[in-house]
Amino acid sequence: MSDFIIKADRISKSYKNGAKPLEVLKGIELAVEKNEFLAIQGPSGAGKSTLLHILGGLDCPTSGEILFEGENIYKLSEDQRADFRNKKVGFVFQFYHLLPEFNALENVFLPGLLKSWWERKKVSIHAKELLERLGLSGRLHHKPNQLSGGEQQRVAIARALVNKPRLLLCDEPTGNLDSESGKNILSLLKELNKETQMTVVLVTHDKDIAALAGRVINLKDGIILN
Ligand SMILES: Nc1ncnc2c1ncn2[C@@H]1O[C@H](COP(=O)(O)OP(=O)(O)OP(=O)(O)O)[C@@H](O)[C@H]1O
Ligand SMILES: [Mg+2]
Repeated sequence: MSDFIIKADRISKSYKNGAKPLEVLKGIELAVEKNEFLAIQGPSGAGKSTLLHILGGLDCPTSGEILFEGENIYKLSEDQRADFRNKKVGFVFQFYHLLPEFNALENVFLPGLLKSWWERKKVSIHAKELLERLGLSGRLHHKPNQLSGGEQQRVAIARALVNKPRLLLCDEPTGNLDSESGKNILSLLKELNKETQMTVVLVTHDKDIAALAGRVINLKDGIILN
């Protein structure tokens, strides 16, 4: 077994854009170690979100391979890849993407709805524990519009963690928060990374946030600079 949880091997991505394709990622080589806390930094349009989506099995590369614990995830069928995402990967986004008609607990519990009733019961207990762990025990029945930005992001983190992913992918998780709430979210992610051995890959264009990660790579124009 390698010590890498995920490896990108010569990943390229281009979009059709008139006559000339737009090359967004240009032969990315990246290996992320188990339990690493990696930040991907770079200017707007560098390809950070595209790379994160490809790492998590959300978007196919034009060429190259993503190996998750040695397995090429883009050789899997769509259904197998959806199952892989559901079991192994958690996603956290800048704008939370909570469902407005559901309360905090329901939003966290949603990924568990696909499971058997016995599993569902376990997930609902775990969802409540996670929200409590994230300091939201008094907000379980609040809907997203009754929560602050930082609280909504903590709900989104709890939702990403509810299936106990091996890899957590965060796209500008603090991009919409003030610097104090942003730093709190970061220390929370660092604690979880330490406690649960979960690997974290975080995209940011904020140097102060990136400096808190174990390793930082810089992406510019679809190329890793360091
Ligand atoms: N579906 C798409 N079709 C065409 N072009 C796209 C598509 N998605 C992204 N792009 C282009 O790819 C480039 C990289 O986008 P990406 O979202 O990965 O950048 P980013 O580094 O995450 O930027 P930001 O910091 O602003 O979020 C951009 O120029 C964008 O316009
Ligand atoms: Mg982006």
